[in-house]
Amino acid sequence: MVTMPLKWGSRLALLCVLLVMAAASAAAQDALFSSAAKQKAESLLKQMTLDEKIGQLNQASGIVLQGLADEKPDNLIVQGRVGSVLWLNDVHEINRLQHLAVEKSRLHIPILFGFDVIHGYRTVFPVPLAMASSWDPSVEERAQHLAAEDARAAGIEWTFTPMVDIARDARWGRIVEGAGEDPYLGAAMARAQVLGFQGEHMGPESVLACVKHFAGYGAADGGRDYDSSYVPEELMRNVYLVPFHAAEQAGAGSFMSAYMDLNDVPASGNHWLLTDVLRKDWGFQGLVLSDAFAVQNLQTHGYAKDPEDAAYKAITAGLNMDMASETYTHNLAKLVKEGRVSETYIDQMVLPVLEAKYDLGLFDHPYVDESKVNTVLDRPEGLALERKLAGRSMVLLRNEDHTLPLSKGLKKVAVIGPLADSTQDIEGGWTVEGLFGPSGKSHPVTVYAGIKKMLGSDAEVTLVSGPVPSRLYPGLLDQLKGVKMSPPPTPEETADWITKVKAAAANADVVVAVMGETADMNGEAASRATLNMPGIQEQMLEAVAAAGKPVVLVLENGRPLDIRWASEHVPAILEAWYPGTEGGDAVADVLFGDVDPGGKLPVSWPRVAGEEPLYYNHNLTHEPEDQPGFTSRYWDMNSKPLYPFGYGLSYTTFQFANLRLSKASMAAGDTNEVSVDVTNTGSVAGDAVAQVYIHQRYGSASRPVRQLEGFKRVSLQPGEKKTLTFPLGSHELHFWDPQTKKWVVEASEFDVWAGGDSKASLHAGFAVTQ
Ligand code: NOJ
Repeated sequence: MVTMPLKWGSRLALLCVLLVMAAASAAAQDALFSSAAKQKAESLLKQMTLDEKIGQLNQASGIVLQGLADEKPDNLIVQGRVGSVLWLNDVHEINRLQHLAVEKSRLHIPILFGFDVIHGYRTVFPVPLAMASSWDPSVEERAQHLAAEDARAAGIEWTFTPMVDIARDARWGRIVEGAGEDPYLGAAMARAQVLGFQGEHMGPESVLACVKHFAGYGAADGGRDYDSSYVPEELMRNVYLVPFHAAEQAGAGSFMSAYMDLNDVPASGNHWLLTDVLRKDWGFQGLVLSDAFAVQNLQTHGYAKDPEDAAYKAITAGLNMDMASETYTHNLAKLVKEGRVSETYIDQMVLPVLEAKYDLGLFDHPYVDESKVNTVLDRPEGLALERKLAGRSMVLLRNEDHTLPLSKGLKKVAVIGPLADSTQDIEGGWTVEGLFGPSGKSHPVTVYAGIKKMLGSDAEVTLVSGPVPSRLYPGLLDQLKGVKMSPPPTPEETADWITKVKAAAANADVVVAVMGETADMNGEAASRATLNMPGIQEQMLEAVAAAGKPVVLVLENGRPLDIRWASEHVPAILEAWYPGTEGGDAVADVLFGDVDPGGKLPVSWPRVAGEEPLYYNHNLTHEPEDQPGFTSRYWDMNSKPLYPFGYGLSYTTFQFANLRLSKASMAAGDTNEVSVDVTNTGSVAGDAVAQVYIHQRYGSASRPVRQLEGFKRVSLQPGEKKTLTFPLGSHELHFWDPQTKKWVVEASEFDVWAGGDSKASLHAGFAVTQ
């Protein structure tokens, strides 16, 4: 790291300011639900029987599927024993069930319908990891706002979004669903999504957000989904919980408990998480929903003796609603009758469910206007926004000799790779209408189609797809979707494909290879032990590179991959992630220079899977970095990332200069202002993302070598300069002290860096005194 003279003396001034964050945040918080909703909920509660109250804590499956539910929830709904229904996207069925609840149940309490509206409804936006790559929370907020409008029009009032799990390990398949490895960036994206779905205040237009998976899920051992997480409290507080708290402070109405064991206590029965942190420290007033079957699975974990014990452990931990397992339905009444759980406590658990329903306007307008659904879902502005966002999310990883942008005058282009024309993959996984099989309602544009459209009929655009890479095990939803896995190609088939791609390359002016992972290779239960490009993709790439034509690799994937070979031999690499419905057009926009790639990596990009977990904000070791001797490194491989966190090229160049601070020394509790000038030094307009990193040199705990504490994405014309400012106050400087178990801002010296990625070298420093 860059060092600076110890201007302020070396006395370890460890007097610290204790920030009583929890009390302050709980006290200062606005009420989550309106007082009108509270009053109505309380008066309704007085009329409810115990069974009806417990009914509000039951979220039933709306679909009948082996492993999910044996029958429709109709009877339970009529008895008032269903508070919410999930997994339905058929608006007619939603209305049918709602009629049962509102017209046939004793108290006419409407159902709250929930579904995973993760990255759009019919218009599918880039996957969340891609949206985080935009480093533009306003973009994500707009996308989620549009998704919320679509969802409400289609009868969904509750989304199981945002997924804010920090992921430091690309083997973990769910890294695609979140904002990557960084708590600061993750918090910004979390906040934006909550505001996008709910707005500033919950109302009849809002979709109730559900922040998940609370918490520590991304730290699964070995990156294997569902495996235990062991995360000490200081790491939870300083890293893993940060985006959750940001979402809570933005007004998120609900949280979802995670599946895994956190420090030996399953998250869905974890009192520390659900009550001590969430409710007592943060003052959360909303409701906690379990993940699917997670209450019942407290038994599978070896934590609960039987379903009754599971219900007891979940409800007393602070979990309001049971998703899909009906463990509450069958056991809570007995627990109350035996006096193990008081009815007053059940009342507290039920109130936020009712309050949410009142504020979301369900009592006034329980039904959906079926005639309007498609008009809303097919709005052209949705597609226009999606194309824009997709372009803003792409990250240019390599561009030797200005290979990109390509000329629009090209006459012969070969487009190769199994993802080049795959409508199944361009939108990524976990889409509302495609979840249980292709819906045929959206019309995704592939990269092949996008390039053809861009070049027009004068150009010859040849497609050689190659075999679809297969998984060793079928994906979570493969059976439901009827997907059949093809076996890997035989040596003869492989040779045949190689001959075909070579011929296509020989006949082309430029080759665009679209490669990566099929969408079902990431997501839930989709962890990987290697990060290679699966199947024969790399062989195909090597074959076309040998043809001597300019090659551009467009990656479609949900996690960083092992692209060591490509990073040395392929002149241009564009990370497109899964860019969504208009993805192919958006890729063409970037490839042909209509859009400057301004996205930056939200993760450190490893060379090989063996480097994982890999993250930039690690602590210093006892030996300074980059010294010969006993440094922390592998002897057989460079242990640094291939591309650092925050990295991304552009078609122009930027200069960062004149880093200054408003104070050389300041008291704890004050705010320092960082300023930096950013100039577009190239010849085309482009977007820079200015990033500010800090490091506390010493104190009551070792602090990360660098941590992001500010960023801004700005558009600059050639030659244009902007001065950007960032505050460094208590919120940026504080940390959870593992020794005192308190939030502190300590008297110490701080390094500040500003620049275009986490390796930024422009440096300044300041001191915090008491
Ligand atoms: C399980 C997943 O872990 C969670 O993310 C999702 O929201 C629920 N299923 C409901 O579909």
